[in-house]
Amino acid sequence: MSLERSDGERLQKVLARVGFGSRRACDEIVAAGRVRVNGNVAVLGRRVDVARDVVEVDGRPVGVLPGLVAYLVNKPAGVVTTASDPEGRPTIVGLVPTEPRVFAVGRLDVATEGLIVVTNDGQLAQLLAHPSHGVEKEYLAEVEGDPGPSALRALREGVEIEPGVVTAPARVSRRGPGVVRIVIHEGRYHQVRRMCAAVGHPVRRLVRTRIGPVSDSRLAPGAWRVLGIDEVRSLTDAAGAVDAPGAQRGGTPPEVSGTDASGTDGRGAQ
Ligand code: URA
Repeated sequence: MSLERSDGERLQKVLARVGFGSRRACDEIVAAGRVRVNGNVAVLGRRVDVARDVVEVDGRPVGVLPGLVAYLVNKPAGVVTTASDPEGRPTIVGLVPTEPRVFAVGRLDVATEGLIVVTNDGQLAQLLAHPSHGVEKEYLAEVEGDPGPSALRALREGVEIEPGVVTAPARVSRRGPGVVRIVIHEGRYHQVRRMCAAVGHPVRRLVRTRIGPVSDSRLAPGAWRVLGIDEVRSLTDAAGAVDAPGAQRGGTPPEVSGTDASGTDGRGAQ
């Protein structure tokens, strides 16, 4: 007796819809045995229930619910990453299409510029924002003064940003007079600003230039673009989603009600 479903959407049609190429290309992906549904290699003609079935391509989970979107936004200074702002400042969701409703993944301070993911994909948000997944974030900081070798070493090795709280080792390099590139994988409140202040070089300007494998130096401040399926997959890979149990992505936002998906200390920026 066949365990294949006779209802639901055809797998190759679903794969084509979420960006794996034409129907024909998706037929080939399925025929090559690269697709699993609920852990079993799928055959051509397989139908899936997109709300329930776990679909993987090449061992990596694929979000197949219709209507999932993920944007990469270049946040300008002065824009808040919360869904709304009591002070009436512009919000990050005001920069992207209003439908479907989306939220920012993690936080950037209002004064911080640069890249942030905005999505309605709750599982993606959880994967990216949770510190235990350790997705790298890269920042360019313009600081007061010009950090010398001992300040740079301290930033690399870890600095005490509040009593008893020492930052994890970071990758740090001087890019020019008073300009430092800092790569961290933690998400502490005002982390980069507090790190730089702790070594005597307060931040004047802070720009996030990379999230895991995703960067885009051509995205203008205030602009957004859709993250391609390959980019979403590379982000989930960076978050270690391959090994995560139940890694099927769905559209339910994390328990943040559009306010804080940071998964950090609930207060703020990573
Ligand atoms: N670190 C900060 O201090 N602020 C941000 O917005 C992001 C990282």
